[in-house]
Amino acid sequence: SAVYGIIGWPVRHSLSPVMQNAAFQAAGIDAVFVPFAVAPERLAAALEGMRALQVAGFNVTIPHKTAIMPLLDELDPAARAAGAVNVVKNQNGRLVGFNTDGAGLVRSLERDLGCPPAGRRIVLVGAGGAARGALAALCRAGAAEVSVLNRTAAAAREMIALIGSESVATACSVLDPDAVAADFWQTRDLIVNATSLGMHGEEIAGLALACLPPAARVYDMVYSPPETPLLAAAAAQGLATANGLGMLVAQGELAFALWTGTPAPENVMRDALSRYRDRT
Ligand code: ATR
Repeated sequence: SAVYGIIGWPVRHSLSPVMQNAAFQAAGIDAVFVPFAVAPERLAAALEGMRALQVAGFNVTIPHKTAIMPLLDELDPAARAAGAVNVVKNQNGRLVGFNTDGAGLVRSLERDLGCPPAGRRIVLVGAGGAARGALAALCRAGAAEVSVLNRTAAAAREMIALIGSESVATACSVLDPDAVAADFWQTRDLIVNATSLGMHGEEIAGLALACLPPAARVYDMVYSPPETPLLAAAAAQGLATANGLGMLVAQGELAFALWTGTPAPENVMRDALSRYRDRT
């Protein structure tokens, strides 16, 4: 029986065990997925443990996503571009870091919002770790333009410079909401919130939702609560919206495929999550 898991601090809130165990079972794979609470100062020791115990693979969550990078044997290009690892695969004793968060966002935009990023003009809110992975993935998926709206413009500039080499065909810029006219908003296709604003009822300053065209779509990476003030305002205006639950599911499906070499069984992770949430 293979052992998989997730390392985080705290890790109790993680929904990954629910999703991955359901998928292993549905796929008939003899494996278990367990949460490992790893304190920041024990990360290196935990990795030694993963090697010694021949754990087959694991997810990485807060606060380890960046700190783990120099401790791994190899990084794939998406992890390097995102500056973060959320999936590790044990390849014959070599620990290889991947990032499926960005590709999970893209997959969720396609599947849950009917909005593949290719050719779109996008406003990305945020310049932290989550935003950086999103920006790299949106560029890689062929977005036409990404304008980054962030409380601190300098952080947005830095983030764009960091992923600069990735953005061959995408025009990335910092959005100054005071300097753009209404026609900027009238030509946007998609807004993506990559901050945690909205988890506790916060609004996002600087977004002119009312100026967006009727076909514009709004995605919020936050999934708890399921409807943030951003999504409620967009929906009230008749815009198509989706929350980050689909991204959580998609990153998990992509991790499963990396670990097992087979695609995750269709809908199993999403259904496991909704059953779990009904129960709790
Ligand atoms: P994560 O890893 O979730 O991306 P992070 O790296 O701490 O978290 O990034 C948080 C993001 O949310 C940043 O873009 C931050 O803006 P700043 O660069 O100005 O700090 C944004 N953010 C956090 N709290 C905020 C607030 N109260 N108002 C506006 N933006 C906020």
